[in-house]
Amino acid sequence: MALSRRAFVRSLGVGGAGALSTAWVVGRGHEALAWGPDPLEAALQAAPQQDVIRISSNENARGPGDAALEAMREVIDGRVGRYGRDVVRVALPEAIARRVGHGLTAENILTTTGSGHILEASVRAFVSPDRPLVNGAPSYSSPNRTAQTVGGSVRAVPLLPNLKLDLDGMAVAANGAGMVFLCNPNNPTATGHALSDVAAFIRRVKSSSPDTAILVDEAYIEYATDTAIETAAAQSLEYDDVFIARTFSKAYGMAGLRIGYAAGRPATLEKIASAWGLGEINMLTATGAVASLNDPAHMDAEREENRRIREFTINAFKEMGYEATDSQTNFLFVNIRRPAAEFRDAAREHGVIVGRDFPPMEQTHARISLGTMDEMQRAVEVFKRILET
Ligand SMILES: Cc1ncc(COP(=O)(O)O)c(C=O)c1O
Repeated sequence: MALSRRAFVRSLGVGGAGALSTAWVVGRGHEALAWGPDPLEAALQAAPQQDVIRISSNENARGPGDAALEAMREVIDGRVGRYGRDVVRVALPEAIARRVGHGLTAENILTTTGSGHILEASVRAFVSPDRPLVNGAPSYSSPNRTAQTVGGSVRAVPLLPNLKLDLDGMAVAANGAGMVFLCNPNNPTATGHALSDVAAFIRRVKSSSPDTAILVDEAYIEYATDTAIETAAAQSLEYDDVFIARTFSKAYGMAGLRIGYAAGRPATLEKIASAWGLGEINMLTATGAVASLNDPAHMDAEREENRRIREFTINAFKEMGYEATDSQTNFLFVNIRRPAAEFRDAAREHGVIVGRDFPPMEQTHARISLGTMDEMQRAVEVFKRILET
């Protein structure tokens, strides 16, 4: 993002009162840009405008909580002149392991500058020309692109009619595969699977195809309100080459600060770390992350606020006669019964930027991220104008 260091520090100091609020700056990342060059997204990155409602990249419009912002403000003094290895290499993995629980310790945590690096590195570690990748279709597709880069094929398993991942179909496809990518909850469909089903899937794949790695991507799991949807952290300790990926880009509101991690057995993490550069987290980001992890009350409030906004937006679509899936995330997948591109172009004309195409469902479904309540109230008025004419 084209924001000078001085402006960044100034925005940290003024909270929400500046032209760019702190939350706006650090809560935004580049999920849509990771997909491919989008001229409008690129222009927005360069010159963010307050009057555009940007609900295209599943970011957190509220940014980090007060404890994280306060902790980051405190280190922007002489301390950022130091390398800050203690917080990055010791305090951060310890705080993550403590928060996720399930028996994890610091040696089970591999931190990176965004979980996207875990996806990239793990495909490079486990997928090859004779060891395909298994993924849902549609699901998060960056692993597919990495697989193609390394000459590996992709076994794309279509979703079930209820738009959930077909775990049985994926288990069959996993035979002889290098890696399974299991996104739970799934992006872009927003649907989630109970831990009991994920655990059964892992058990089945590890007995039928023991050398197949399994990555459970839990980028959105903090937003799940169905209590059956829980982390597969315990499973990541139980088997070789089974690991989870998590990020601070979503519920923790730190997309622009770039931090994510994998959890699993040390030998598994070593394979991932040696396959691709994972970046080095900076001290400011690590400090904010540790403060966030130590503030579970903020996460509860964030989940509740997202649930309130999600319910409002799903109900608004329902009143217009359009169905969204059972979202367990901070975005919706809505059957708009028309091409997503048509809907997207019309919304853009009114200053609302929604998600890109998600083949093979781009003729009927749109992905809409959830912004603030105020943003969604204004976006819904735009959606009404488009969908009710
Ligand atoms: C499912 C999923 N995994 C991973 C990522 C990468 O997130 P980051 O690199 O910001 O941690 C994203 C980003 O949108 C995502 O949706």
